[in-house]
Amino acid sequence: MQVNGTAHTTIAYDPQQQCVRIIDQTLLPHRFEIIPLQSLHEFCAAISDMQVRGAPLIGITAAYGLALSLHHDASAANEQAATEQLLATRPTAVNLRWAITRVQNAIKGLAEPERAAAALQEAEAMRLEDSATCEAIGEHGLSMLQTLDHSRPINILTHCNAGWLATVDWGTALAPIYKAHQAGLDIHIWVDETRPRNQGASLTAWELQQQGIPHTVIADNTGGHLMQQGMVDLCLVGSDRTTASGDVCNKIGTYLKALAASDNHIPFYVALPASTIDWEIDDGLRDIPIEQRSAKEVTHITGINQHGELHEVQLVANSPACNYAFDVTPARLVSGLITEHGIYQADKISLQGLKRQR
Ligand code: MRU
Repeated sequence: MQVNGTAHTTIAYDPQQQCVRIIDQTLLPHRFEIIPLQSLHEFCAAISDMQVRGAPLIGITAAYGLALSLHHDASAANEQAATEQLLATRPTAVNLRWAITRVQNAIKGLAEPERAAAALQEAEAMRLEDSATCEAIGEHGLSMLQTLDHSRPINILTHCNAGWLATVDWGTALAPIYKAHQAGLDIHIWVDETRPRNQGASLTAWELQQQGIPHTVIADNTGGHLMQQGMVDLCLVGSDRTTASGDVCNKIGTYLKALAASDNHIPFYVALPASTIDWEIDDGLRDIPIEQRSAKEVTHITGINQHGELHEVQLVANSPACNYAFDVTPARLVSGLITEHGIYQADKISLQGLKRQR
């Protein structure tokens, strides 16, 4: 996507410096900085500190992390150790496990001197595929948006950031929005701020503003009121892990939006690549590990001060706080799953059809 007129993706391998370059998302929207990652420690920290985030991008970053770690030491013992460290960074997004498994399969049976190059080649292939996958999600989502009444602006509510920053390019939930904008549909996006990390206010709003798409940032609790007032036509969110029967795990607060959408008869769609489906589990509430992050993300907030410097402010004085990063929306509240292969019902039978498509 374009940033100030220049095309960027969120992650790229630099063969000269033998490093991976990422956008440091903790600095957005205030500063656009590209930083290098080289050591396994840097890759793990970038994922756990959320310099990169969003399920698909976490997966691709981990794939590169494993590949570059094998470049330093291609032994099976190092592969095992690096895999364990990468898997421990963030527990919820299944794309992390999916991406690492793909790299491991690509190097299985190879002689040691060949392993690092093959791993890197697989990471590169996944990066390119991710972009094409998300664009296909955008096309399928656009077809769905075109069935809505577009004689007036279509109001879409989104939660967190499932835009190009969360993937390599295009995004998942925002891909149909970018396609719709390009196709000339009149759209307006309600952007949930998405406390505590504010990915909506900091990242989604920044993305939409860069692409010139009309949008309004709202406090997280506003969506229900807007829905009751007929001001939302559709909810469109991403997912970090969706079960084989269609339960959707996504950023904390997604479930409440789905409940409000259901109560107001508003379609609630989830956009995701097939790599976000965990085919090994059915029951999202029971089986998806929900990441708990530092309470400090709830008690403190970061912005910029009048000198343009990043500045942390304390909101909560002495009370304990807790920070569940994701929740699970049961399949019954989901109107459809927009994937790169088409739109599927959030149920086991329909998803079996998707499984056969892959
Ligand atoms: O904690 P984050 O910022 O990694 O959470 C991101 C989300 O919840 C996204 O909605 C999800 O990863 C889908 S991104 C295409």
